[in-house]
Amino acid sequence: MTVVPTAAALEFVGAPTWAALSGKPVSTEVWSDVHEVPHVRIGQAADLVVVAPATADLMAKATHGIADDLLTNTLLTARCPVVFAPAMHTEMWEHAATRSNVATLRERGVLVIEPAEGRLTGKDTGKGRLPEPTEIFDLCREALARGTVAPDLAGRHVVVSAGGTREYLDPVRFLGNRSSGLQGYALARAAAARGAEVTLIAANVSLPDPAGVKVVRVETTAQLRQEVVASAASADAVVMAAAPADFRPVGVSDAKIKKAADGSAPSIELTQNPDILREISTDRARPGTVIVGFAAETGDDTGSVLDLARTKLARKGCDLLVVNDVSGGAVFGSPDNEAVILGADGAAVEVPRGSKSALAHVIWDEVVSRLQD
Ligand code: CTP
Repeated sequence: MTVVPTAAALEFVGAPTWAALSGKPVSTEVWSDVHEVPHVRIGQAADLVVVAPATADLMAKATHGIADDLLTNTLLTARCPVVFAPAMHTEMWEHAATRSNVATLRERGVLVIEPAEGRLTGKDTGKGRLPEPTEIFDLCREALARGTVAPDLAGRHVVVSAGGTREYLDPVRFLGNRSSGLQGYALARAAAARGAEVTLIAANVSLPDPAGVKVVRVETTAQLRQEVVASAASADAVVMAAAPADFRPVGVSDAKIKKAADGSAPSIELTQNPDILREISTDRARPGTVIVGFAAETGDDTGSVLDLARTKLARKGCDLLVVNDVSGGAVFGSPDNEAVILGADGAAVEVPRGSKSALAHVIWDEVVSRLQD
């Protein structure tokens, strides 16, 4: 790793810190170590260039090919994937000049990550905050693996559900499940990176909001259904990564349920929840919407994991089904996942064990190839 700070970056973190962390000398300008021609060599030799934080000024220079320091020279000579993680005040991000520069950079294949919303330098809050380091890292890894992260979802609206629903018994108790929301959040982040307008419907997830994503919070399956059905009406794709509870108590007690004096345990009568995936697949609001479901399967005497998954795909009526073999219970809360993506058109794409972000990108590849113009 080579660190190429701008002069402004050294106002925040000094050169000795960068040199110690990277194990290499650092320089901001092209006149150091001239015999090694660093202004050409660093860019040419790079597998990936990451500019984080990328200021409005730096992006303007990159857009116009200005090369007045070592970093901007490096950007001109790099032929590898380039990732910009912008950080600036909201007014600067929204300014027509920055909008136009970001659009130009993206057209050239540069991955410009949407900034996060939140506290900025100073007292103000808004869009323009540097995305979380893990988010930047995931995208860098993806850009390296694929050579680029193309904006192939630009102009598309996608809806992703994530997390696990809660079905209340009384004001403090609920039936829930182990879904962490990690896969749904990875899907939302990947779609945003690929240029989509993303609505993320999150059921009881305690993860930071992904940058550039509209997050709608729900608790119960009924609330999840309402939000999914409403946003599916304008969606090019819907991915149901959430784990809605299949059953809910027939009634919710207004008061906390007390222990009985005779020590007897109460029984809970359950009723079935609506199957949201099936409903939006069989009663489609827009004919072209690509609908994706998830299936956590274990094989049994009636069939293998894939046999059961094919039957489920047909029963749900969706276009794609992402099948996890959960026989070992390892997928819940884990940063990794492996899956087979089945298509109603007969496709079967095996995704080897890897990050949930990598699986998310393969799922979007399959969605993109099925989107209509
Ligand atoms: N799903 C849904 N609404 C429900 C339950 C599940 O939309 N009430 C969606 C999930 O988001 C996921 C897929 O359906 O995309 C998972 O299906 P699964 O829960 O395995 O389906 P079931 O019908 O519960 O399967 P099984 O009959 O095997 O329990």
